[in-house]
Amino acid sequence: MKTEIAIIGAGPAGLFLGHLLRRAGIDAVILESRTREEVEGTIRAGVLEHWVVALMRELGLAARLEKTADFHDGITLQWNGERLHLDMRDLTGGKFVTVYPQHEVLRDLIAGLLDAGGEILFGVGETALHGVASSDPWVSFRPGKTGPATRLDCRYIVGADGYHGPSRQAIPAERRAEFHKLYPFGWLGILAQTGRSWPELIYANQAEGFALLSTRSPEVQRLYIQCNPDDDIALWPDERIWEELRSRLAVPGWTLAEGPIFQKGIIPLRSFVCETMQYGRLFLAGDAAHIVPPTGAKGLNLAVADVVVLAEALIARYQRNDEEKLARYSETALRRVWKGERFSWYMTTMLHRNPAETDFERRIHFADLDFVRTSRAAATALAENYVGLPFDR
Ligand code: FAD
Ligand code: DHB
Repeated sequence: MKTEIAIIGAGPAGLFLGHLLRRAGIDAVILESRTREEVEGTIRAGVLEHWVVALMRELGLAARLEKTADFHDGITLQWNGERLHLDMRDLTGGKFVTVYPQHEVLRDLIAGLLDAGGEILFGVGETALHGVASSDPWVSFRPGKTGPATRLDCRYIVGADGYHGPSRQAIPAERRAEFHKLYPFGWLGILAQTGRSWPELIYANQAEGFALLSTRSPEVQRLYIQCNPDDDIALWPDERIWEELRSRLAVPGWTLAEGPIFQKGIIPLRSFVCETMQYGRLFLAGDAAHIVPPTGAKGLNLAVADVVVLAEALIARYQRNDEEKLARYSETALRRVWKGERFSWYMTTMLHRNPAETDFERRIHFADLDFVRTSRAAATALAENYVGLPFDR
């Protein structure tokens, strides 16, 4: 097989890149190790930055989003039993918060790309990268896991295969610097069959720890609580989860809507960056190169931002034979990535109860939140980051 761009991974990064390249008439093939059903059924992120919504509209992929997404003017922060509404629309000159889950985005992207004749091979096995430092790189894989060993020749490889994928390892260890931070807490996330109890997302920092109230539809709500990252989910029967949510989200005169929980899971919280994001003919995008803790709702958005920068660079290379942007891809992408890392770390640190921190540090977090309450400049800085920072090309 032969293509111009071999993309490994059909997550948000790989699929948005597939669309952007297709629109520019550049040939690409996406290799994905999971089945289409697995990709479309995995519950992950929920919030889209305003420009991601605009991009979906521009690509003609927003029909279901317009009908079923939730558009909020802002978010609510809660600490010491009081709530603060941050009006993002007002603070950012009209930008807003969109809640539309990642698996729905992926369904739209996959259907759109296949309809347009794009090539996605699901369920491939033994993906391996070859010759990334040469001018003739290639990827080997087995269709349907156990099919015959197959070779995909290409001009460039894009590693959009997430944190555990093989692409990052194809950059020699001495050519990359990796930055890691593991937080001493995780998130327990649930989906519950119940109505909404607040018109927007609530991020709460209470004595017992962090809680987040989000939504999926008028009938299904998404909620998270801070927990021990090593906890077995069996330690969290439904009643214990509701008890914690009730007390962490409590304010006088308000009741949490409760109902049957039909999905639950625990994720660890980590920050990670790989410098560099390119080597020879290989470019990394999304979680393959960086991870953020979910508190800032940035993971998916950073992944899409990488491929917007990368697509522009590849288009300059193919349409104008200009390789300068491609040569500077890692440098350009990392400037925005580090700001996303900073914001995610800031939100995580400010809003969680860290068992290792002192009372002094805890008071500092409350001062940070109170600064957002009393300073329009501080509230604007938070809002600008939340709705999505501008691109610096
Ligand atoms: P991914 O979505 O990970 O896609 C990579 C794809 O590559 C996958 O489909 C994978 O199957 C495929 N792949 C891997 N190895 C191979 C291989 N060898 N060959 C072929 N294909 C391969 N972010 C938030 O903002 N909020 C959240 O609440 C949130 N929750 C999350 C919960 C979980 C359990 C996880 C794992 C992540 C969560 N995130 C969240 C982060 C967010 O979902 C990611 O940042 C986002 O999916 C990154 O997109 P991506 O395309 O870079 O990688
Ligand atoms: C959701 C996830 C997040 O990480 C976040 O910050 C806000 C909302 C969600 O899944 O709805």
